Amino acid sequence: MDHFHYAGHALYCEGVPIAELAATYGTPLFVYSKKTLLHHLHQLQRAFAAVEPLICYSIKTNPNLAICRLMRENGTGFDVTSGGELFRALQAGGAPERIVFAGVGKTDREMVEALDANILMFNVESEGELAALSELTAGRHQSVRIALRVNPDVDPKTHAKTTTGKRGTKFGLDWERVEKIAAALVKHRHVELVGIHMHLGSPIYSTEPYRAALERAVPLIETLRRQGHDLRYLNMGGGFGIHYRKQEALSADTFAGVIVPAVQEARCRLILEPGRFIVGNAGILVSRVLYVKDSGGKRFVIQDAAMNDLIRPTLYDAFHRIWPVEPPAEVPAPPEDYETPLPHTQLVDIVGPVCESGDFLARDRWFPEVKRGDLVAIFSAGAYGMAMSSNYNGRCRVAEVLVDGDKHRLIRRRETYQDLIRPELEV
Ligand code: LLP
Repeated sequence: MDHFHYAGHALYCEGVPIAELAATYGTPLFVYSKKTLLHHLHQLQRAFAAVEPLICYSIKTNPNLAICRLMRENGTGFDVTSGGELFRALQAGGAPERIVFAGVGKTDREMVEALDANILMFNVESEGELAALSELTAGRHQSVRIALRVNPDVDPKTHAKTTTGKRGTKFGLDWERVEKIAAALVKHRHVELVGIHMHLGSPIYSTEPYRAALERAVPLIETLRRQGHDLRYLNMGGGFGIHYRKQEALSADTFAGVIVPAVQEARCRLILEPGRFIVGNAGILVSRVLYVKDSGGKRFVIQDAAMNDLIRPTLYDAFHRIWPVEPPAEVPAPPEDYETPLPHTQLVDIVGPVCESGDFLARDRWFPEVKRGDLVAIFSAGAYGMAMSSNYNGRCRVAEVLVDGDKHRLIRRRETYQDLIRPELEV
């Protein structure tokens, strides 16, 4: 469920017409719905309530401070993956005791910053990292809590570039080696092993990978306890899929149905690191058609958003629903699967102005006739949209707006040309 809906041939976010936002803030524009963000967060909170999870919003998904603050005000901690994200989490008022830090390449500086902040725990991904963290901690006469990030060798059946829980990716420690690594940590003077962490990949559309991973996790936790560790946390990462094409996502309850009993069996506090599930369907990218061009037997709708604003179609061949903000009366609604041709639609590529043929937001889509100046909505763009945007081709990063009922507020201004050159040093 989200709060983007058509009424009288116009798209609304909650109570605000998208056309009004485009007129006020310009395009391209990311528009987020506060109700949708909170709806998804509350779904997770309710589904997992039986085990009182610590939900650490995964900042990488959408790092805007206003969104991070909203998450924090509604009870989340944060999953950070760099010093920059830790800084952001703290700026958003995040409590250090609710921050976890993952990543295969933490630098000394980043580890020191996290030790300074005294975060809840590090998710440690290699023996080398463990040695470095232990050394840094000893030098500070401090102790540190860690979870070992375990690679359970489970196929999450998602895109190869976002598969993490399978052997052969750079993530985590081979699960067969964890016991030995943990054994060396018993009675360690500075490092306290308090949990295990598994993030399998993203987005995931089945409970099976979680079930398979938990089948490894639960006995492993018991083994580590027998070694003498006070294992208190089981962190299952993020990964819950969302609606990109139609209503294909599993509910939070469905995932909880598999995860909660295992957590109870393991007698651990559950940590989750959801990102996409919360913010993905809560954001759209709004663009304006510049030109419609027929070339090489194809029709191209050239609009002002591009791969630098939303790279997912280019990078992962990801599918995002796209439809005019004010569709013509003859085709008010898209085909359910976005693939079946409807009367008064034509097959088009929806592309941006960037100088690469990989710059597309959709290929071979049945789309109503649009003309210069029309607005287009690219749906399910709240996760890994703005977060992965760049200034490629000298393009200013776009503005972001948060809608709350019939109110709206700019939460990031559009960049200017001056912003583009500001960090550069003249020689
Ligand atoms: N925890 C860890 C350790 C992660 O690596 C990730 C995502 C998450 C949590 C959050 O996963 P989520 O709940 O959002 O699925 N750019 C790609 C997705 C990359 C995911 C990276 N890690 C995309 O646009 O599909």
